[in-house]
This record gives sequence, structure tokens and C-alpha cells, in this order.
Amino acid sequence: MIESFSCLNLRCFEKKEFLFEKQFTLIEGKNGAGKTTVLEGIFLSVRGKSFLTGKLSNLVKNGEDFFKVKTGINGNYIDVFYSKRERKKEFLLNGKRERILRVSLMFPLFIFNGRLLNFIRSDTITLYKFFNIILSLYDKAYLKAYNEYSRALKEKRSLLTLQAKNDSIEPWNIILMERSNIIREKRKVFVKKINNILKENNFVLYRENSLKEENKSVFERELKEKRVLAGCHRDRFFILKNNKDMRFFYSSGQQKNIFFDVLTAVGKVFGEKTGQKPVLLLDDFDSEFDLSNLKYCLNNVLESFQIILTTTDKAKYSDFDYNLISL
Ligand SMILES: Nc1ncnc2c1ncn2[C@@H]1O[C@H](COP(=O)(O)OP(=O)(O)OP(=O)(O)O)[C@@H](O)[C@H]1O
Ligand SMILES: [Mg+2]
Repeated sequence: MIESFSCLNLRCFEKKEFLFEKQFTLIEGKNGAGKTTVLEGIFLSVRGKSFLTGKLSNLVKNGEDFFKVKTGINGNYIDVFYSKRERKKEFLLNGKRERILRVSLMFPLFIFNGRLLNFIRSDTITLYKFFNIILSLYDKAYLKAYNEYSRALKEKRSLLTLQAKNDSIEPWNIILMERSNIIREKRKVFVKKINNILKENNFVLYRENSLKEENKSVFERELKEKRVLAGCHRDRFFILKNNKDMRFFYSSGQQKNIFFDVLTAVGKVFGEKTGQKPVLLLDDFDSEFDLSNLKYCLNNVLESFQIILTTTDKAKYSDFDYNLISL
């Protein structure tokens, strides 16, 4: 659970400090008050990057050189320091330097905003990446296999562009096939667990890439096109309701509802394994929802997650027991 957050020179904030005492926190304020910035700072502490920009220098308050962020989570402290002048980025876990990758694997935390939903609506890669992150956080063996797979994929790609001989590519093909098997098996088990929890005819479909490494003609095409066509990096996930793809059949509000049902199930699967509720940061949650769907979805996700949510209108949440941060 996120317990506290403080920052210095972070975007619009000179100095701020907040406590999160309940499972549900509402951050209320007008446009530009800094609500998204609080979520950005928390996300940065745990994942090592912003969900809005690739450049940490954008997060430094205008006219200043550095920012500092401190987040309390599950009895631990994460400090982030960034200086423009020194070009220095520092991550500390409980006062000691730590690799951000290790930190991100210790504390499951997710962000959901309108932007992410729009990507999920318009492509298939975003949902694929989303499930990969979830599985990497959920299962260390998945992460290991996926990292090994990605390394082999990179090697094979560069050999294909160099038009190397089949013999030099073959060992990488074997690694890719072996790791694909592990990865696919774990994806199937995870999706099955989610589908067992899902209600209301919602369903996650995992579809394997139809092109296989062992097929000679696929390999010939790969050599010709200089790209890797076979393998589990081209598998995809789809969210269905009543056997219809969420992206093409349902209204904006319905799509959001369906996605939150899946997210709730993901949180439950996590909770069953760790005994803890992962953290869910929600930006733009109200938009596209009518009041009854807003309440329905929030009630659901609160079963599985600690929620930190931004809003311009707290009245919409009057039925809920929350900890209020007013900006
Ligand atoms: N580097 C910076 N230095 C100073 N101010 C900044 C910096 N970057 C962004 N800001 C300002 O910080 C303010 C807070 O932005 P933020 O996105 O957190 O607001 P918000 O409360 O989420 O607003 P909305 O309700 O519109 O989503 C904005 O007015 C923005 O212009
Ligand atoms: Mg905002």
C-alpha cells in the first residue's frame, strides 16, 4: 500500500506532502491544480519513469534545477532525485541505491488513464504490452524467460539484417522456440485464471501467432524480409464480451466498463498470490461514465486494488469511504 508521498520542485509543486490512510484516496482539484502530477510522482518512484513524458527534465519545476520525490510503500521508502545540471538520476530504496527494475518488481502498481484506453481501442500492441508487464510482475520465471527471449530476438534481428547464414541464426531459433513455449504456457494459465473470475460474459482471448519457427517457408520469408515473423512476440490478447471484440462493438463507456472488469480480475489474481492489494492510479476515471457505471466500476476495482484517483468533482464519490486530498 502507498502510505505517503512528498515532493520538492515537481512540476507545479514547490513542496508538498500527503498521507494515504485509506484504501481509497481521492485527489480533488481544479484543472491545472496538480492532480496528475501527484500520480506521476508516485508512478515515477515505483516504475522509474513518467507515464507522460520520456524526459525527466520536463518534471523539474520551471526555474529550478532539480526535483525530489519520496514515496512510502509497504513500510519502505523510495527516494528519487533528478538534477538537470548534474544530469544525475538517483533511486534509493530505504536509503540505499537500488536498481529501479528491482524496485518495480517488488511493488505491483498500475496506472490507468484515458490515453491508455485510447491506445487499447486503436491497436493490439498496447494490450499485449500491458499483459506482459502484468505477467512480469506476477511471475519471476516469466520475466526471466521473457528477458532471455527478448535478447535472443534482438540477436536474430541483427543477424537477419546482416543477411547472415542460416547456421548462425539457428541457435537463436532454438532459444526463441524454447522460451516461447515457457512464455505461452504461463500466459495461458494466467488468462485462464482471469477468465475463471470474469463475469457478465467478459472473456480474455489469447491468440498465438500462426507463423511457427519450425516451418521452413516462414524462415525463408524471414530471411527475405529481414524481420522475425515467428515467435511469441507476435501473439496477441483480445478482450471480448458476448464473443464480440470490445474495440469494435461497444460504446466508449461500455468499453471502459469491460476493461475495468478485466482489471479487477487481474487485481484478484495478484491478490491471491501475494495476499496484498496492488496499487491502481486512476486519472480521467469519471470521463465517459454515467454515475451508475462509475459506482459499479469503482466498487469492483476497490475489491482488488488500493485506489488513488483524481477528480474535479468529489460529489460523484459521495457513496464511498475515501481519504481526501484537496489541491
Ligand atoms: N515543469 C513545470 N514547471 C512548472 N509548472 C509545470 C511544469 N510542468 C507542468 N506544469 C504545470 O503544472 C500544472 C499541473 O498539471 P497537472 O497535469 O498535474 O494538473 P491536473 O490537476 O491534473 O489538471 P487537469 O484537471 O486538467 O487534469 C499545470 O498547470 C501545468 O501547466
Ligand atoms: Mg490531470
